[in-house]
Parts: sequence; C-alpha cells; structure tokens
Amino acid sequence: MSQVLDSRRPEPICGMDTWMPAAARIVDVRQENFNTRTFQVQFVDEEIQARYRFVPGQFNMLYVPGVGEAAISVSSDPEQTETLGHTIRLVGSVTHALERLGKGGLIGLRGPFGRGWPLEAMKGHNMVLVAGGIGLAPLRPMIYWLLHHRDHCQRVVLLYGCRTPEDRVFAEELEQWDQQGVIEVLVTVDNATSQWAGPVGVVPHLLRRIRVSAERTMVLVCGPKLLNRAAAWNFLQLHVPADHVYVSLERNMNCGFGRCGHCQYGPKFVCTDGPVFCFADIADFFAKEEI
Ligand SMILES: Cc1cc2nc3c(=O)[nH]c(=O)nc-3n(C[C@H](O)[C@H](O)[C@H](O)COP(=O)(O)OP(=O)(O)OC[C@H]3O[C@@H](n4cnc5c(N)ncnc54)[C@H](O)[C@@H]3O)c2cc1C
Ligand code: FES
Repeated sequence: MSQVLDSRRPEPICGMDTWMPAAARIVDVRQENFNTRTFQVQFVDEEIQARYRFVPGQFNMLYVPGVGEAAISVSSDPEQTETLGHTIRLVGSVTHALERLGKGGLIGLRGPFGRGWPLEAMKGHNMVLVAGGIGLAPLRPMIYWLLHHRDHCQRVVLLYGCRTPEDRVFAEELEQWDQQGVIEVLVTVDNATSQWAGPVGVVPHLLRRIRVSAERTMVLVCGPKLLNRAAAWNFLQLHVPADHVYVSLERNMNCGFGRCGHCQYGPKFVCTDGPVFCFADIADFFAKEEI
C-alpha cells in the first residue's frame, strides 16, 4: 500500500543509469477513443517491476527502439503494482510506433520522473480536479489514490471536458466514479451529440454548478494550455489562494532529469521542477508566450 506523501519522486528505475531504459513489454492495449489508447506495460525484469513506485502526476520516458522516446504520464492506479498504464494520444512518430508494436511489443522505459501532485499539502482540503481531453490521464492515478485514501481530503469534485462525448477517455470509469458517489463527477462537451444529456460548454462553465469555499479548496488542473489558464484564473477570481492551485504542464523532453535544458520554462525545468507546478511559483510567467 503506497503511503508516499512526498510529491517529489521515488528513485527512478532505469537500466544501468538514468539515461538507460529498462526493457518493458506491452501486455495490454485498450482503446479509449478514436486516437487514444491505454498501454499496460510490465518490466521484463520482475525485480524491477516489484520495486517500481510512482507518485500520481509523475511521468516515464517510453522508448521505441529505432524510433525515439516520448514523455508519458503514468495513468494507472499507483497501488496496482503489477503493470503500469500509459494513456497515449497517437500524434507523432513514437506514439504511432507504440500503436504499431501493440500487445506483446518490447519497449524501453525510464522513470518515474518529475514532481507529482501535492499529496501532503492536499490533506484536509476540498479537492477540485479539472481536466481537459487527455489531461485526465495524469489525474487518473490521483483519483485512484484519493479513492484508496478517502479520509485524506474532504469533498472531491472532478470537472472534465472534451470536444465531443466520443472524445472522452476512461468513459466507463467516469460513470463508475459518478455512480459510486464517493467523488462528484461533472462532464461537459464542446459539441453534443443527440445521445448526450449532460452539460455543453467549456470546462470553466462547470464552476457555476459547484460551490467552493475558497480557503479550504485545493485545485489540480491538467489540460490544454487555454484550459489551464482559464481554470487557474477562474479559481483565483473565486479567491482560492494561488498556493492552492496546481497545474501540470507539458514541454518537449529529452533527458527527463534536469540535464539537457530541453524542457526549460522560464527559470524552471518542467522535468524536475514539474510537471506539476504550484501556481504561486509560476504566476510571473504562466501566461507569457514563448517562455
Ligand atoms: C510531462 C509530460 C507528460 C506527458 N504525458 C502524456 C500522456 O500521458 N499522454 C500523451 O499522449 N502525451 C503525453 N505527453 C505529450 C507527449 O510527450 C508528446 O505528445 C510527444 O511529442 C509524443 O511523441 P511522438 O513522437 O508521438 O510525437 P512527435 O513526433 O514528437 O509529435 C508531437 C506533435 O508535434 C507534431 N509534429 C510532429 N512533427 C512535426 C513537424 N515536423 N512539424 C510540425 N509539427 C510536428 C505532431 O503532429 C504532434 O502534434 C506528455 C508530455 C510531457 C512533457
Ligand atoms: S528534459 Fe532535459 S532538462 Fe528537462
């Protein structure tokens, strides 16, 4: 049972050094939507698999031999240690190569890297989790963690938005979480279909449907850039303190552990200072373009 409360990382598990991936096999592939799959992977070395732990919000570097590497968040339950889930939108060379490899394919894996969601700071707070599109992937381990440690926080609300109902990821789990009633789940879509009976509009519109007591609320956001900005600013306007708002950011990665500078974001490195940032620490340059 994971009791990791430090949002910094457990020691990365790699091959001979932090640059060296360890061999892992794709043991299952689940279709989430038309362009997104969840790949369950397992280290070939059982001892590595047994040692691997991550904090919700951390990421791995997945390597497809002969193609390259991509940073991908771990999307599975942190207390399910037999396999690791990665929910991946098929956009470019590495992600399409993973799809071609499919079940049984052999890849390299380095990680976990980065700073995850602030488990310790969350204690006793009402939690609002805000996700857009595939941004639900890095929040899914957080949801599982909160379900395992339900008394760690007060009320938990998930606000999730995507373009259409067909774009949802983890559609079955969204329904299960909602039906279990342990967390409140509100899903909105930009464009409804005839079967869609839920809210229509962008995620920040869902804020009207919940009441937040600013001082006791903590907000975790992961989505496209515009959603991250809108959500952060909306909660600040509701007087949620800046150090209660956390945002997960993306940058091009190379090393993943603070050596190459590829992921520089103002004075920070996304791979080591993030990908989860406290808004108070990045407020000065959060909305600046070309940072
Ligand atoms: C911390 C972190 C966590 C992440 N977690 C996830 C996750 O959980 N799931 C996920 O799906 N992604 C995640 N990403 C994003 C993922 O790392 C990138 O999408 C990655 O680039 C995919 O690799 P690729 O080789 O498939 O795509 P790339 O080939 O790198 O292409 C990426 C994007 O660039 C575009 N592109 C590619 N080549 C060109 C070109 N020549 N000119 C213009 N545009 C081009 C593609 O259309 C695509 O939109 C994460 C990123 C970070 C930093
Ligand atoms: S990816 Fe190399 S410093 Fe962040």
